[in-house]
Amino acid sequence: MSGFQGGEKKKKPEPKKWEPPLPTTIGKRRRKRGPDTATKLPGVFPTTRCNLKLLKLQRINDYLLMEQEFVEEQERLKPQEEKLQEERAKVDEIRGAPISVGTLEEVIDDNHAIVSTSSGPEYYVTMLSIVDKDLLEPGCSVLLHHKSMAVVGVLQDDVDPMVSVMKLEKAPTESYADIGGLEQQIQEIKEAVELPLTHPELYEEMGIKPPKGVILYGVPGTGKTLLAKAVANQTSATFLRVVGSELIQKYLGDGPKLVRELFRVAEDYAPSIVFIDEIDAVGTKRYDSNSGGTKEIQRTMLELLNQLDGFDSRGDVKVIMATNKIETLDPALIRPGRIDRKIEFPLPDVKTKRRIFGIHTAKMTLNEDVDLEEYVMSKDDLSGADIKAICTEAGLLALRERRMKVCNEDFRKAREKVLIRKNEGTPEGLYI
Ligand SMILES: Nc1ncnc2c1ncn2[C@@H]1O[C@H](COP(=O)(O)OP(=O)(O)OP(=O)(O)O)[C@@H](O)[C@H]1O
Ligand SMILES: [Mg+2]
Repeated sequence: MSGFQGGEKKKKPEPKKWEPPLPTTIGKRRRKRGPDTATKLPGVFPTTRCNLKLLKLQRINDYLLMEQEFVEEQERLKPQEEKLQEERAKVDEIRGAPISVGTLEEVIDDNHAIVSTSSGPEYYVTMLSIVDKDLLEPGCSVLLHHKSMAVVGVLQDDVDPMVSVMKLEKAPTESYADIGGLEQQIQEIKEAVELPLTHPELYEEMGIKPPKGVILYGVPGTGKTLLAKAVANQTSATFLRVVGSELIQKYLGDGPKLVRELFRVAEDYAPSIVFIDEIDAVGTKRYDSNSGGTKEIQRTMLELLNQLDGFDSRGDVKVIMATNKIETLDPALIRPGRIDRKIEFPLPDVKTKRRIFGIHTAKMTLNEDVDLEEYVMSKDDLSGADIKAICTEAGLLALRERRMKVCNEDFRKAREKVLIRKNEGTPEGLYI
């Protein structure tokens, strides 16, 4: 026993030396020492034949047997790894290199499905066993073999790239401070959109359901888009923005699908606000029409109605719509229960005009003779956008004469220009 223990004693001080360094170095050193120690058997004492020697030799025998077993096991496992790699290569081969993407239409049984590709036709194809069946659901994107069209994989996280573009990563720079007047509108939008997202309990206590969304309407240039931008800037909720025309897609069924995706993403990122500008592009009244395009637009709107009904109004998704033609909208879209807050944006009154002039001339250098009151008090129907145009135009006129200060004459000319353009209703401005 002592002989073997002696062997152990020889080893014992070594682990103590190894302990301080990092575990990786321990492995390395041991491996380095491996061959030497493996060939060397510990000396057996006493040398005379006796029971003690027999016992010690048996221990050594046990140890060597164990070692042999370990080596055999290692060799047995090695080919398995190679085999795995081979199999993986085979699976890759079956998948084929140029893979096309299709949409799963229907699952027939465990091994068969109907898929459609973007080029049009639908196929009845097999599904490989390597496909994770749990991820399959009608409408999801699948990878198809390039020739046999067999389903070889599932594309996960199939958020439409169009929708992810709509998510506003960078908030617009406009804030509530950039809006002249419109206090009541700001208050209403805060109550209807922001407050339910931040303090849903207030509505619960009151026993009312917060509105699902609001619609902003009014003549062009009265600040509807501006206010929505300010909301996007100030809110902590996710802000998704779409323009109505974006929802009209080239292929049949893509528009409604986009609407569904949009609301799904909105729910995923809840609390969120969906802003649909120029909703009249899709939301016009339903009427009988044989044109495929019009029908498709109507289907997109019906999907929108469906989505508005679909989510719980206490849910974390709010909708803001904007239009300047509310009378052309389908009454179903804006009936109470869907969009029940209608916020009107009127033309600015005198006080508001003054504020808007103030906002847009704040960064301009004005000559002493400039009297903005003259323009504020005039009887012209000026919208916020017109006022902005007058200020910009005046600045440009001054720039043309290389003056750093804008004088009253510039403003007068600018106002005339803007009014002429406005009253003619010609798109002259587009070419300047
Ligand atoms: N109340 C306002 N205060 C300050 N600026 C305003 C105001 N209203 C409009 N403007 C200016 O007019 C510009 C155009 O406004 P906006 O884009 O919001 O119009 P809109 O109501 O969305 O019009 P449309 O119906 O044509 O889309 C804004 O960029 C802003 O500079
Ligand atoms: Mg707008």
